Amino acid sequence: MIKLVSNRIRLAIKYLSYLVFSSNRKGHGIHSPFVFDFIIQVLRGKIANEIQFGKIEKYRNDLIRSSDFISIEDYGAGSFITSQTKRSISSVAKYSLKSPKYARLLYRVVNYFKPDSILELGTSFGITTQYLAIANPLATITTIEGSPEIAQIAQVGFERNSFQRIRLIQGNFKKELQTAIVGMNGKKFFYIDGDHRYEPTIHYFNTIISISGENDILVFDDIHWSKDMEQAWLEIKQDIRVKYTIDLFFIGLVFLKKDFLEKQDFVVHF
Ligand SMILES: C[S@@+](CC[C@H](N)C(=O)[O-])C[C@H]1O[C@@H](n2cnc3c(N)ncnc32)[C@H](O)[C@@H]1O
Repeated sequence: MIKLVSNRIRLAIKYLSYLVFSSNRKGHGIHSPFVFDFIIQVLRGKIANEIQFGKIEKYRNDLIRSSDFISIEDYGAGSFITSQTKRSISSVAKYSLKSPKYARLLYRVVNYFKPDSILELGTSFGITTQYLAIANPLATITTIEGSPEIAQIAQVGFERNSFQRIRLIQGNFKKELQTAIVGMNGKKFFYIDGDHRYEPTIHYFNTIISISGENDILVFDDIHWSKDMEQAWLEIKQDIRVKYTIDLFFIGLVFLKKDFLEKQDFVVHF
């Protein structure tokens, strides 16, 4: 409990410092044309698909209103809210999913970079997966979830909203990541949103980067969530294969492009 409270205080202080020191959303002072464009087109971008977003959010809201409970097999670092194995669907839907603001951002990221294949680690109820899927209807999309009852609810959502092309793998990232990356072609987009611990995160990073090309994009969730995740994010930024990183506090983006001559890390207000 004390650890939980001190981590929350640490996170709040970190967030305040992010708000004070991050570059503003207009891109003033950013000299990289790539990042400036990213800020204008993606962070401040307005592109949306309100009809589809509405269907996805309807599923989220139905889950929030649910009074049912499910069993959770916790593979990862747990969450701030609870680590018990029985949880209400409502609580998972409220606290464990990316908010509409970030789901829309990820939609714009995918829509802007147009990857050919997308892989998400950590489906949960598949809400963000659905945003990723509509962002580029031509991309193949795979998502991995360890907890069987959670995966089942995600699958119901995919069927309800006609996302038959989303391939949901139920299993542990450690085992399934290798299988999932084999079929990925062209420009790749990875969203790592689960198992927020140092060693697994570095392992997923190394596995993914070993098959990545210079146009691929990696997005890590909860990069400041714990000291462990801070350390993992620091090492990812320092990796010589990484060229640019953009820290938006709750997510961090990693770019590998070879024509960025210098390594640079940006912290941008979002
Ligand atoms: C934060 S939630 C994902 C939220 C989802 N991406 C969204 O935005 O709606 C993380 C999920 O990853 C799953 N998970 C964590 N560690 C895992 C592992 N090692 N293998 C498989 N699934 C794992 C958890 O069961 C949980 O459902």
